[in-house]
Amino acid sequence: MRKRELQIFVYEYDTVLELPESDLELVLAAREASENAYAPYSNFHVGAALRLENGLLIKGNNQENADFTDGLCAERVALFYANANYPDLKVEAIAVTAKNKDGIIKEPAQPCGSCRQALVEAEVRFNHPIRLIMDGANKIMVVENAESLLPFAFKPVALG
Ligand code: THU
Repeated sequence: MRKRELQIFVYEYDTVLELPESDLELVLAAREASENAYAPYSNFHVGAALRLENGLLIKGNNQENADFTDGLCAERVALFYANANYPDLKVEAIAVTAKNKDGIIKEPAQPCGSCRQALVEAEVRFNHPIRLIMDGANKIMVVENAESLLPFAFKPVALG
């Protein structure tokens, strides 16, 4: 028997102004994207913005449906659009933000499990880490790769 400890590095910032310039740019794009969210059922407006290796920014937002389970999160809307239209370009970083009725949520917006799985797939696909910037009014959190948020993710190698 072995007991193992996993280490995850998380960088925390008190305000967006402390972020590296390229992260700030992505967060502002994500906030802009959240304005176009279609979230009439939850009133939780999520925005995501990702950067491709050629510098192109791609934005997405949550798309809800009266049949609740048919909606899709902002992160996957952005990621799938990027992968569908720029299949050869690595995804380098993604920022996520969310607004409720009181404005930008206080704690950092963390991707759901399914979005983490989709981001890990893109890391494997492009053999490149995806920096993840999670925006919040009280704190901004950054991890250097999506897998930090999904240890032991299901990976294509398992399919044999
Ligand atoms: N949502 C996202 O867009 N991203 C997340 O990471 C978490 C949740 C959306 C789904 C739904 O439209 C709304 O937020 C409330 O769950």
